[in-house]
Amino acid sequence: MARIVLLGAPGAGKGTQAALLKEKYALPHISTGDIFRANIREGTPLGIKVKAIIDRGELVPDELTVALVKDRLAQPDCKKGYILDGFPRTIAQAEALEGFSAPELAIDIDVDHEAVVRRIAGRRMCKCGETYHTSTHASAECAKCGAKLYQRDDDKEDVVRERLRVYEAQTKPLIDFYASRGVLHTVDGNGGVESTFALVSEVIDGHNKVR
Ligand code: AP5
Ligand code: MG
Repeated sequence: MARIVLLGAPGAGKGTQAALLKEKYALPHISTGDIFRANIREGTPLGIKVKAIIDRGELVPDELTVALVKDRLAQPDCKKGYILDGFPRTIAQAEALEGFSAPELAIDIDVDHEAVVRRIAGRRMCKCGETYHTSTHASAECAKCGAKLYQRDDDKEDVVRERLRVYEAQTKPLIDFYASRGVLHTVDGNGGVESTFALVSEVIDGHNKVR
């Protein structure tokens, strides 16, 4: 199918779109943020190493993150393609990825600054992996499994500000990086979840038709 990278600011909707794409295209969804959070929850050596970094809104070192993704992409389920969410997010990571699995599509979900702040402020998570927003899901419990929803530790206002600063400085340059490789597609992510999904699907369907 396709090797897909989702780009976009914190709160742009990468995780939300990736969950829908995973169902539609039967591709594995690989979110480095989710992998780190699962390790933090389970108290693994990796989780212990990265917790303070993530709580400050900074980036986990490139070597560690690249090694983790390289291992994951070597699994058999990634042979037919994958959806990478939250990786790469530095030029060094993008260059490393070119060396072991060059993406065919880099889809940038472009969302206005005020919208990302609003989206992150209202985001609620479930331990089963579901993500909600208080504006569309008023209940404090997960609609899928009934567990109590919680807010991510790095979704506090000052940490969000730092994550947005890190995005501008270190991750935004990836837009030019992938444009120069001819694989960049930008979609307007300011609409609702469904309309953004239609735009992202159009890019993938267009790619699959010509390959
Ligand atoms: P990560 O988990 O990747 O966080 P992020 O990039 O900041 O992105 P978010 O998960 O906050 O946003 P999202 O785009 O997934 O939005 P979502 O779909 O949830 O990384 C966390 C940390 O881990 C990093 O800060 C770093 O420390 C570390 N890390 C991870 N990867 C790393 C790497 N490669 N290198 C180094 N360090 C790394 O949507 C947000 C909200 O909006 C939700 O409530 C959702 O319901 C709602 N929503 C979504 N779409 C819409 C829509 N279209 N309309 C209205 N509401 C919407
Ligand atoms: Mg996410």
